[in-house]
Amino acid sequence: MHTLNDLQALIRGRRTVVLTGAGCSTESGIPDYRGPLTRKKARNPILYKAFINEASARVRYWSRSLIGWNRIVDAAPNAAHTAIAELEAKGYVNGVITQNVDRLHHKAGSDRVVELHGTLSEVCCLDCGQLEQRNTFQQRLQVLNPDWWHEGHDLAPDGDVELGDIDVSQFRVPACSICGGVLKPNVVFFGESVPKDRVEDAWQLYDEADMILVVGSSLTVFSGYRFVLKAAKEGRPVAIVNLGPTRGDALASCCIDKEAGVIMPGLLNKLINSNEGALRETST
Ligand SMILES: NC(=O)c1ccc[n+]([C@@H]2O[C@H](COP(=O)([O-])OP(=O)(O)OC[C@H]3O[C@@H](n4cnc5c(N)ncnc54)[C@H](O)[C@@H]3O)[C@@H](O)[C@H]2O)c1
Ligand SMILES: [Zn+2]
Repeated sequence: MHTLNDLQALIRGRRTVVLTGAGCSTESGIPDYRGPLTRKKARNPILYKAFINEASARVRYWSRSLIGWNRIVDAAPNAAHTAIAELEAKGYVNGVITQNVDRLHHKAGSDRVVELHGTLSEVCCLDCGQLEQRNTFQQRLQVLNPDWWHEGHDLAPDGDVELGDIDVSQFRVPACSICGGVLKPNVVFFGESVPKDRVEDAWQLYDEADMILVVGSSLTVFSGYRFVLKAAKEGRPVAIVNLGPTRGDALASCCIDKEAGVIMPGLLNKLINSNEGALRETST
């Protein structure tokens, strides 16, 4: 079990790329998949193939997401997001690779963010590629389904809600406003791969850094885990701030099992107060 002092010592004099997961956003009210409260719940996230091939799966998805979206768009960054943005502004962090789709790093002011799994705040046409802001799409969804409201739902990860076995036969899904094609949230679904150029952007951030700090990810999903694997292979330090165990623990030289919203601001304060370690001087 390591301490904040160990983490500070590791980061001192190094440039750090931060890899975040759902645990970084739980303190903003967005649930994770594999945290202490969610691990035992059965989850059936939509699969890419079903969304592409089955109109009924798309109707089910959007009927739930119409309700879940409000909770995502209203979520505010927490102390961990804010500290990570501040660590970047002060030159300790060169950028963030996030597996989250909630846009909270941008809202907190992080500058260089690679959204490995895309973002819920856009929808994309599968036919012509046109991007539409989710907020305008949400208005179109509401206009087509003015009475669609269900009480007593639980927000599930990815802006989904649990609606149970309800009748969605009357639910109507808007088409692309340019070509009439099928729209999909601009996120990487289970069974879909991360676009190549996005992976390259993430490797670019990794290459510029000297070490990697994981914040709030179980590292179960390979697209995040691969950065930790590579770091370990290359002998770069790996640090992990996560509630509970992760797949990367054996590869890490520092693991802190506490809330990101406590540890990240604590780290920021320690680095600022010690007044050393930032590799890049900033004007502020
Ligand atoms: N906020 C979001 O955008 C969101 C939410 C859920 C899922 N997802 C998607 O699902 C996938 C899930 O993989 P993952 O590794 O990101 O998440 P995960 O659910 O597998 O792991 C989250 C980890 O964070 C820990 N955790 C929870 N609260 C924490 C806190 N306050 N401080 C520190 N740690 C905390 C949990 O114990 C767990 O080990 C991702 O690929 C992501 O795209 C995104
Ligand atoms: Zn289109």
